[in-house]
Amino acid sequence: MSSTTTDSFVETGTHVAGLDVRELAKQFGTPCYLYDAATILRRIEELAAFDHVRYAQKACSNLAILDLVRRHKVLVDAVSAGEIYRARQAGYSAQGDPPPIVYTADIFDRESLDMVVEEGIHANCGSPDMIDQLGERHPGHAITLRINPGFGHGHSQKTNTGGEQSKHGIWHEDLADCLQRADHHGLQVTGVHMHIGSGTDFKHLSQVCGALEAAALQVGRSVMSISAGGGLPTPYRAEDQRVDLAEYYKLWDATRCRLQDQFGHPVSLEIEPGRYLTAEAGYLVTEIRAIKRMGGNTFYLVDAGFNNLARPILYGAYHPMTVVPVAGPRRDEPTREVVVGGPLCESGDIFTQEEGGFVATRALPPAQVGQLLVIGCAGAYGYVMSSNYNSKPFASEVLLQDGQAHLVRARQTFADLTQGEVIPSSA
Ligand code: LLP
Repeated sequence: MSSTTTDSFVETGTHVAGLDVRELAKQFGTPCYLYDAATILRRIEELAAFDHVRYAQKACSNLAILDLVRRHKVLVDAVSAGEIYRARQAGYSAQGDPPPIVYTADIFDRESLDMVVEEGIHANCGSPDMIDQLGERHPGHAITLRINPGFGHGHSQKTNTGGEQSKHGIWHEDLADCLQRADHHGLQVTGVHMHIGSGTDFKHLSQVCGALEAAALQVGRSVMSISAGGGLPTPYRAEDQRVDLAEYYKLWDATRCRLQDQFGHPVSLEIEPGRYLTAEAGYLVTEIRAIKRMGGNTFYLVDAGFNNLARPILYGAYHPMTVVPVAGPRRDEPTREVVVGGPLCESGDIFTQEEGGFVATRALPPAQVGQLLVIGCAGAYGYVMSSNYNSKPFASEVLLQDGQAHLVRARQTFADLTQGEVIPSSA
């Protein structure tokens, strides 16, 4: 499989989805997130072999993105009452077969328990307490069990969701106890789910099949569906390889077939990607506002910070970056090593850093204040992890589709920043 993306921005350095980034920046201001709908649709298509693709919306949950994937037959995962609300706003029905929305979590807060019960949302339980709490409120509810198989892997220890250092899922040795709890409450266990981590690799992902098969056999014939979880890696660096999806599907399909033989009925196979659908579709467009030297380092300081894209400060994550020429096509210019940082009043506000906060550099062309700097592969865990730190408004989000740019979330206003805040009237 190819090792790089085929996005037009990678080829042109000036256009996303056929639209000139400089024009888009003028129209929508910076910082601004751009999403290329065609890239998302291409990723969905690549997963067509699976019976159901369930989008882990935590990666990018703008209503326009949810609506786009819903119209292409993608189901949705929700990890909070807020995400259930979003899914409903984007047109997903509460109930159906397969369940359009699945609530996957390790707890029910009171709001999510109410919503799951009142709307009849399918629950994928990640703790024994969830089983008891749902069972007490709503006996007969169908559930699946998220099992922690005792191992996990991610691009960072912070995104490893398996093993005993992880809080996620039902510990594999507690499955028998959980089945008894479900039985006690009359809850039907209709499926088994595993998600061992985010941004992992083929070797680790493929180990899940055997563990899931064992868990499904332990649950028995009530299992109608299995979920491989998410975690599919995407290439962030030019040399990163794309995961071999055909091989991955083959492993899961074989697992499913063995279970079908055992149970004597069809078992559907789900996959639950977040990053895979949206990471490469997203770009954070920023403007260089200052260029300065600090001893041996040159800094390009842009108008977006970790308030807009937290992955570098959280995980030392690498994102491709490009400086856009003021006018005309991309030029082949000699590069120099620079540090790229943001506007926040905190030293960690650096986009070129390694895990642990060590400042790194990036080879970029010489630039002038006022030029655009585009951060790529920012469509997953970008906007959704934004904050208002330093009272910076959230950026705008723009969906690019069929040659059109649609503003799908307006940049926050200053009034939005203080909304809900109250100065108590003095006594
Ligand atoms: N399913 C479950 C149960 C999950 O916990 C997650 C991610 C996914 C699916 C989707 O994983 P994906 O396909 O996107 O790898 N903020 C981190 C990623 C945290 C992922 C949390 N759970 C990052 O920026 O890399």
